[in-house]
Amino acid sequence: MKILEIRNLCKVYGKGETQVDALKDVSFDVEQGEFVAIVGPSGSGKSTLLHILGGVDRPGSGEVIISGTDISRLDETKLAIFRRRQIGLIYQFYNLIPILNVEENMTLPLLLDGKKPDKELLADLVEKLGLKERLSHLPNQLSGGQQQRVSIGRALMNNPSLLLADEPTGNLDSENSKEIVSLLRKFNREKRQTVIIITHDERIALSADRVITIEDGRITRDTRDIVASPCGEALKSLEAATGSPGLQPGAEKEVSVS
Ligand SMILES: Nc1ncnc2c1ncn2[C@@H]1O[C@H](COP(=O)(O)OP(=O)(O)O)[C@@H](O)[C@H]1O
Ligand SMILES: [Mg+2]
Repeated sequence: MKILEIRNLCKVYGKGETQVDALKDVSFDVEQGEFVAIVGPSGSGKSTLLHILGGVDRPGSGEVIISGTDISRLDETKLAIFRRRQIGLIYQFYNLIPILNVEENMTLPLLLDGKKPDKELLADLVEKLGLKERLSHLPNQLSGGQQQRVSIGRALMNNPSLLLADEPTGNLDSENSKEIVSLLRKFNREKRQTVIIITHDERIALSADRVITIEDGRITRDTRDIVASPCGEALKSLEAATGSPGLQPGAEKEVSVS
């Protein structure tokens, strides 16, 4: 089942001399339960894309269909509700509220949504995130890795179908990075939560089911197009050797050897 369908997404910032075409006709689909890494140079449009997928920013044109709903057509109120209920967002800097403790930070979005936090889910997340002994600590009493675990817990308290992370390990050492990624993987496997993670870390990208490369506002590579084909790798080599476009969209179907 497709959880995400992105169609011809464009985003322009500014006007005239300062105009930036941050996204140029971006289209792709994501299946439910996929763990997708998005990579690409700084300034290539990765955060812009993630913000639009998360309903935090609006596309200039194009469609963002999440579980069958085109969120680019929702008004502000409906979009805010959709975002709170369906999407979990994780950032590089944890954005925790300094005067609230771990438990309060995790449950705040639900309280703001007028909902009662699910105690069982809270206990389960706290256990899995290793925060059991830290529930009444304030953010400044926690390490970076712990703070990021709180922000993951906060993102998961509404049981989102889609978890979006923008360089979640960008501020952490390699040990903590590994732990954060294995936690995201664990939730992805156990709860079938779809994860889209922007990263500069090659090891994270290698551990993903699929890697999408964005350069200058366009998708320049998507490993799904390669692995989907039994002879995809061979085609790639052929393409590299001959300089001819061996792998056009849809071409893999015609060259299938199975
Ligand atoms: N709010 C904004 N106003 C103007 N330009 C922006 C804004 N946000 C991003 N940009 C520009 O859009 C391009 C893509 O940015 P971004 O999506 O943040 O890239 P990345 O996350 O890949 O580093 C960059 O050239 C950036 O300067
Ligand atoms: Mg960015």
